[in-house]
Amino acid sequence: MHSCVVGLQWGDEAKGKIVDLLGGDHDIVVRFNGGANAGHTVVVEGKAYKLSLLPTGLVRGGVTAVIGNGVVIYPPRMAEEVEGLERGGLKVLDRLKVSDRAHVILPYHQEEERLREAAASLADRIGTTGRGIGPCYADKVGRHLAVRVADLLDVDRLASRLGEIVPRKNAMLASMDPSARRFSVDELVAEYRAHGDYLRPLATDTVEYLHAQAAQGKRILFEAAQGSLLDIDHGSYPFVTSSNSTIAGLTSGSGFPARSLGRVIGVVKAYTTRVGGGPFPTELDDGPEGIGERIRRIGREYGTVTGRPRRCGWFDAVATRTTARVNGVNSVALMLLDVLSGLDELKIATSYREGDRRRDWFPADAATLAKCLPSYESMPGWREDITGCRKWNDLPANARAYVRRISAIMGVPIHHVSVGPDRAQTLLVE
Ligand code: IMP
Repeated sequence: MHSCVVGLQWGDEAKGKIVDLLGGDHDIVVRFNGGANAGHTVVVEGKAYKLSLLPTGLVRGGVTAVIGNGVVIYPPRMAEEVEGLERGGLKVLDRLKVSDRAHVILPYHQEEERLREAAASLADRIGTTGRGIGPCYADKVGRHLAVRVADLLDVDRLASRLGEIVPRKNAMLASMDPSARRFSVDELVAEYRAHGDYLRPLATDTVEYLHAQAAQGKRILFEAAQGSLLDIDHGSYPFVTSSNSTIAGLTSGSGFPARSLGRVIGVVKAYTTRVGGGPFPTELDDGPEGIGERIRRIGREYGTVTGRPRRCGWFDAVATRTTARVNGVNSVALMLLDVLSGLDELKIATSYREGDRRRDWFPADAATLAKCLPSYESMPGWREDITGCRKWNDLPANARAYVRRISAIMGVPIHHVSVGPDRAQTLLVE
């Protein structure tokens, strides 16, 4: 059976842990969207592995990792990540395949992103990760200025592409800010030629590869990066990332048909977080002694990629009900339930109010979302530390009731509940 793991909130749902859990049932793990804007931590036997561009399922030995055509690659960071894992004792290079169709991030993408974010007013700033993701995808769609992995493998082609692109990028950057960084064609050709040499043994027609492997009975696990509320089409536009982080990105970003999947697992936290700008209806902006700060502290809610404090709030069942439908999830994993221990009362947003209007569906744009106020349902909390629970029935009754209520409001079964970072701290819902 092929599976997909997808985040149903604004990213950072601890998808890596669920991928790791399912990894044992799969032969191949695939990333299909985003790039090194993602941050994943997987803890195995007390050892933490940090991944950004590579599929998290890679931490299980024996699986092949695929970076699909929908991913945008910054080669120096990829090499750094591979080397870091190899130094930590994890063999990676001989089981990694990178799509020859994937697009490549160059340093002028990062410079463009920096200038665009700096020029935006505080309210309009997306709060990106600064990795050059958006400008690279913009070039992909625009076609004239794009560079793909296959272009790095042929030096003449690379020199001719960059000879055409770099002067145009320099002119564009200078028009945005006269003090913008200027890039040299020769330096970039030399640098990216070396990246091409590194990528040559990894570059693969991954679409053909995945179909051939599936035909031989291999099981494939797809990992969506970011969360569905950051999806370019279905998220809180324009405060989103530049790829389809829902299952919509799987077909385009890997060339594998979504109808072949047997299982789509949506991952949610037991509360909500968001990094970067944009409206967040259930945000708890209640000061240094408040519940929002408490969740941030106990849940260690700081960005893996940028280190920024994450904004924290109550569970939003309007948003997750919507994203569960968009992705067609047939199972939900609820993560970080232990972070809520010790609170007297928990709240779940069951609908929004926009003036006199009730909304049960996540609105299409950020301006409307900013006008929505959550309608909450309250539930009693629990005082016990639940990190030692290993079975569903070990959980306090109020914790089980909270999980069941979320499942009922979302209209999707919750099969996994996580009470800590280790593999062993995952309970199967009975
Ligand atoms: P970009 O993907 O760097 O362009 O950033 C766009 C928005 O997506 C910003 O709000 C980022 O904070 C957010 N974002 C990007 N990647 C992640 C992620 O992996 N987790 C959470 N937020 C992310």
